[in-house]
Parts: sequence; structure tokens; C-alpha cells
Amino acid sequence: MKVLESVAAMRVARQAMAGSMGFVPTMGYLHEGHMALARRARAENEHVVASIFVNPTQFGPHEDFERYPRNQERDLAMLQKEGVDAVFLPPVVEMYPSGSCTYVTVEGLSQKLEGASRPGHFRGVATVVAKLFNIVQPARAYFGQKDAQQVVIIKKMAADLDMNLEIVVCPTVREPDGLAMSSRNVYLNPAERRAALVLWQALCLAREMWQKGERRAEVIPKAMRELIQKEPLARLDYVSLAHSQTLEELESIPKEGEGSVLASLAVYIGKTRLIDNIVLE
Ligand code: PAJ
Repeated sequence: MKVLESVAAMRVARQAMAGSMGFVPTMGYLHEGHMALARRARAENEHVVASIFVNPTQFGPHEDFERYPRNQERDLAMLQKEGVDAVFLPPVVEMYPSGSCTYVTVEGLSQKLEGASRPGHFRGVATVVAKLFNIVQPARAYFGQKDAQQVVIIKKMAADLDMNLEIVVCPTVREPDGLAMSSRNVYLNPAERRAALVLWQALCLAREMWQKGERRAEVIPKAMRELIQKEPLARLDYVSLAHSQTLEELESIPKEGEGSVLASLAVYIGKTRLIDNIVLE
């Protein structure tokens, strides 16, 4: 497995890989969720490139960029085991040389949900993903449903900017008790780890109400909010029931054939902000 640290070296390695290319962008500190993307990419392409880059432009000024967990050696061993051909691992100055001043903004979609709580976040995500696509030039890029809004925004960016690739979405990988895997779970102490289950419990409650035929848009989020408020270590940021493609908050729930519903939430467990979602079909 090649490890490339400069854009120039990545381009040279890319040129040697004729045939279909699958790409898995990550910020490292890998877990089974990332591995599922790498495995799917490995199964569907002749070549697989992964990237590990903790992207400063997608973190707010008071967020966890500096302390975001990192373990390069372990990450590389995990990717090698999955048969990844090359890993792009640039330093920050390589991706953002001084004077770099061009950004990609997917308007509207980037301001909702996560974007409302994290201004500028999706501008950073779209910009770095566009740059990575230009550098790696994949035929397919693999993203997790765990970050549902990120998927919607990347798909829209790729369509709007005529990017010639397929965005493949993979299901959220969970711990045995239901907690969505996340690099940030490492921040949780044992009591917080137990409390973090409340995200999944709230989503299960939403699904149960939905399956029992509840279709009044306000009733499900209210029940989710109440459940989260019962957990002393949890502080709710938002819960949302939105159209899964437009991300418009639902006033009434779509009828058959009008599209599916994204139930999503962000909750602070202690100081750690966690997100999760499910699609109600
Ligand atoms: P990161 O959080 O490292 O996630 C990399 C990819 O793994 C994303 O597509 C994410 O949705 C997926 N992923 C994370 N946890 C998952 C889980 N439990 N199950 C399935 N997939 C999961 O998302 C980013 O990095 C960055 O924003 C990035 C796209 C790399 C741009 O900087």
C-alpha cells in the first residue's frame, strides 16, 4: 500500500492506476463504519484510494479540530488489511497553501440542520471533498449514511458542478447496543457512553411511532425531545423530521410516493456533540 503525502505524488500514483477507481475520504481514527466503506469500494473497483485528512475548514473556531483523535499508524494498518492500494495523507499546508481563497458553497442545503448549528461546516466539507475529487479523480466515492446531510450536499455539489463520478452511500454501522460508530465516541467516559444510547433510543421511538401510523409531524419530534430530556447527561441541540432530499422540515408528513422522511438529531453528551439519523420509509 502506497502512502502519499503530497498532491503531486498522489497524482503520479493515480496515473499508474488505470481502470475503475473507488475513493474513501476520511478524517482518520478509523472504525468499522469507515472499514465498511473501504470494503465496499474494494469489492466494486479495480483500485481503491482512501484519504486521511482532518480538515480544518470544516471545524468552527470553538470546535474540536486541535483535539480531534488521531492514530496514523493504526489507521494505515487497518486500511492495508482491507486491501486499499493507496492512502492520501496530506499535511494541512499541502491542501491549503497560504493564499488559498476558493470555497465551494452548496446554498440552502448547507444552512439547515447541522449547518444551522455549525455555520461554515458544509462549506469546509464541500471544498475539501471537491479538492480531493480533483486530486484523486475517482469513478466512485463512498460516503456513510451516518452523515445524512453530508451525503445530500455532496451529491448536489457533484451534480451541480458536473463532476463525473458516482456517489455511493453505505448504511450506518452501529455498536451492538445501537450507538452509531463515530471517531468522537472516544471522548465519552463510561457514564457518558451509557447516556449516549439515548440518541438511538430516540430514533427507535420515532420509528416505532411511525410504524404504528403516527403521521402528525409535530408529535414524533416532541416525543423524541421528551425522551432525551430524561437523560441527565444529555443536552439536546436539535431533533428534526425533514424531507430526506430537500431537508425541508416537515409540516405534514409525505404521503405514499412523495419521498421518504429523515429523522435526525444532534445531542451533547457532556461536552461531546453526537449526531445520528434514520430514514423512515
Ligand atoms: P469522517 O467523520 O472520518 O467520516 C468519513 C466517512 O465515514 C463519511 O462518509 C462518514 O459518513 C462515514 N462514517 C462515519 N461513521 C460511520 C458509521 N458509523 N457508519 C457508516 N459510515 C460512517 O465525514 C468526514 O470524515 C469528513 O466530513 C470528510 C467527508 C472526510 C471531509 O472532510
